[in-house]
Amino acid sequence: MAASLVCNGKTVCDVGCDHGKLSLYLVKSGRAERVIATDINKMPLQKAIDLFSENGVSDKAEFYLTDGLQNIGDTSDITHVVICGLGGDTMAQIIENAPFIKENMVQLVLLPAQSGDKIRHYLYTHGFDITAEHTVGENKKFYSAITAVYSGNVKECDAYECYIGKSESCEGADAKGYFEMVLSRLGKKAKGLTIDTGSCPQDILDAIEKTKQLIAKAE
Ligand SMILES: C[S@@+](CC[C@H](N)C(=O)[O-])C[C@H]1O[C@@H](n2cnc3c(N)ncnc32)[C@H](O)[C@@H]1O
Repeated sequence: MAASLVCNGKTVCDVGCDHGKLSLYLVKSGRAERVIATDINKMPLQKAIDLFSENGVSDKAEFYLTDGLQNIGDTSDITHVVICGLGGDTMAQIIENAPFIKENMVQLVLLPAQSGDKIRHYLYTHGFDITAEHTVGENKKFYSAITAVYSGNVKECDAYECYIGKSESCEGADAKGYFEMVLSRLGKKAKGLTIDTGSCPQDILDAIEKTKQLIAKAE
């Protein structure tokens, strides 16, 4: 899903590339002219290197054993950064530590494995526009792929915008599954805050109500 959101990529970074399948798809499908694949762990990165070698496309990729996008050399040709399967807070840190993303208005494609609220909050409050979201289900788990780009528009956001964001316009079974998962997280958050502080902020209660309405609409 996430890779299909990359169009006409020149150099595309795949952060946390693991086995390298996403990177390979980007190159083979022509969605990227070349990729920079990074991973913080040696074993997955080696798998990605081997996969490119087996497919005869090693000349289309550079591989870096690094945290996020640190020390990856020339960044001037990078059009897209794809980060899939990491937590929203880790994604935010990786983006924050890579100023070229803002400077060059690089397109972001983000598929958080968890803490989608954290990455949306970071994007809204650090001048990025969320351009679209696409919900996806896999093995009974549900995710939302977020596309974003830096615009300089800093925006405060409430719980609904952080937890649901632009996924509100998604439809179908995957969207419903995603909204149900978010509702469960919001419920746990509300319960925790009520136990800790004696009350739950109104924006969380509002987000719960609006998410219930999305689920009812998706049925
Ligand atoms: C769940 S896998 C995601 C695989 C792949 N992106 C996908 O969606 O199929 C997470 C990968 O990210 C790597 N990783 C975790 N934190 C990282 C970081 N800060 N920088 C780069 N890679 C990281 C892990 O080593 C692991 O290979």
